[in-house]
Amino acid sequence: MLVSAKEVLAKAKNEKYAVGQFNINNLEWTKAILLTAQECNSPVILGVSEGAGKYMCGFKTVADMVKAMVESLGITVPVILHLDHGSYEGAKKAIEAGFSSVMFDGSHYGIEENIEKTKEIIALANSKGISVEAEVGSIGGEEDGVVGAGEVADPNECKMIADLGVDILAAGIGNIHGKYPANWAGLNFEVLAEIEKATSPMPLVLHGGTGIPADMIKKAISLGVSKINVNTECQIAFADATRKYIEAGKDLEGKGFDPRKLLAPGFEAIKATVKEKMELFGSINKA
Ligand code: 13P
Repeated sequence: MLVSAKEVLAKAKNEKYAVGQFNINNLEWTKAILLTAQECNSPVILGVSEGAGKYMCGFKTVADMVKAMVESLGITVPVILHLDHGSYEGAKKAIEAGFSSVMFDGSHYGIEENIEKTKEIIALANSKGISVEAEVGSIGGEEDGVVGAGEVADPNECKMIADLGVDILAAGIGNIHGKYPANWAGLNFEVLAEIEKATSPMPLVLHGGTGIPADMIKKAISLGVSKINVNTECQIAFADATRKYIEAGKDLEGKGFDPRKLLAPGFEAIKATVKEKMELFGSINKA
């Protein structure tokens, strides 16, 4: 069974750890993340961007696959299926398809329109027990063609959006998607502390988890971050392991071309990355 992020993240916030959101792309990704969560006895959030949803033949295919996999693998830790950076239409479709949580990213609208649309999505989601994440201050970098300018969120706007009844709030604090440039200034902890003060006890989300140093992750958690999104790091780990397998000529040995063999090193690499993050975020044994 899939659960809403509401209770899971309230517990995380209370006990000062963060739950990882790991984006999925296919069956191998989903299986690797679910098995690792179970082995670590950790709650887990599976993130699905609109692009990844299309790639996997639509939200219904994704929701049905995840639900069936949770059942057939005997997964008992809390699993949240979450729409990542959803549009207004996308959020409605994911709710209909059986997701247990959605992000409505209205950060590119003006604040008034963001508020109106967020309210609508909240009413629809709440009627089905589905949690809603909203975003203030766009996250920098590029994700699925959506390019954000990397703003630092205004704590007053955060409070305004939090008061609409969202369950989780993503606020830009200098974080960006993808790899961080060498001259990155780091996370803005002063603004994070202000946002936390204005919105507490709202669980806060840190997007762009790839490449943020461990000490900054820990500090962010101590200041109220309860959900951390990681995507690129799993992709790089998968690609590196697959490259090594092929460069070593293993696909040419015996039946090394069998996809179940060819994709195995990448699968194990995702598992190792997810485990490492769960340790860093402090979510192990918190299921
Ligand atoms: P990274 O790809 O930088 O880890 O960011 C993931 C993310 O924030 C998904 O919303």
